[in-house]
Amino acid sequence: MSQTPPSQDELKTLVAHAALKYVVPGEYLGVGTGSTVNKFIDALAASGVAIKGAVSSSLASTNRMKSLGILVIDLALVERISVYIDGADEIDPKGCMIKGGGAALTCEKIVAAQADKFICIADASKNVAVLGAFALPVEVIPMAAPEITRRFKAMGAVAVLRTVNGQTLVTDNGQYLLDVKGLQIADAWSFENTVSQWPGVVTVGVFAHQHAHVCLLGTAQGVQTIVY
Ligand code: 5RP
Repeated sequence: MSQTPPSQDELKTLVAHAALKYVVPGEYLGVGTGSTVNKFIDALAASGVAIKGAVSSSLASTNRMKSLGILVIDLALVERISVYIDGADEIDPKGCMIKGGGAALTCEKIVAAQADKFICIADASKNVAVLGAFALPVEVIPMAAPEITRRFKAMGAVAVLRTVNGQTLVTDNGQYLLDVKGLQIADAWSFENTVSQWPGVVTVGVFAHQHAHVCLLGTAQGVQTIVY
């Protein structure tokens, strides 16, 4: 008898619940952004695990956590976080990721950088050999967007300003987002270093320096735990 394979949504639920075992009671927890993280937030609230507080990476996650009774603490008040849990748009064999599909890449990178361990929760579709099929999000200062677009063009890629309902998207930090297609990012560290230095780039959505330490990958066979 053939069984229907789990949907992407079911795989996201699976890994969101699997991440609960990485939550350390009594400590601060870093929380990312996105539909997989939303499921994690719901599971965390339902679990009753008592954390000291959550450090959020976006207004969306902050609002969701607050509405479920989870205490949210400003990152500026916290020195180190033991665990940061977040999704990804792509993850490669070294644990390097493309992030920012939910436009929260800057705060995600900041919170991840203050965490000892990044636990990535992702369905199997996010697992890639080389980063770049997903359009790379890059948060930019608005006046620099045209020049940054030209620089990507010179690399053979196409950068497009992200819009929502016909309006230019403005991030939580008041900046614009470019989505860049046509890249193949084999050396994520060097790519992140290069693009981060372009004037006007706030954050590039390549997470190599802040790579995942563990990925909980949702597959048809269950949760695969990959350690980097
Ligand atoms: C938000 C992100 C998300 O983690 C990424 O887009 C994955 O989202 P989802 O869990 O909805 O697939 O980087 O900025």
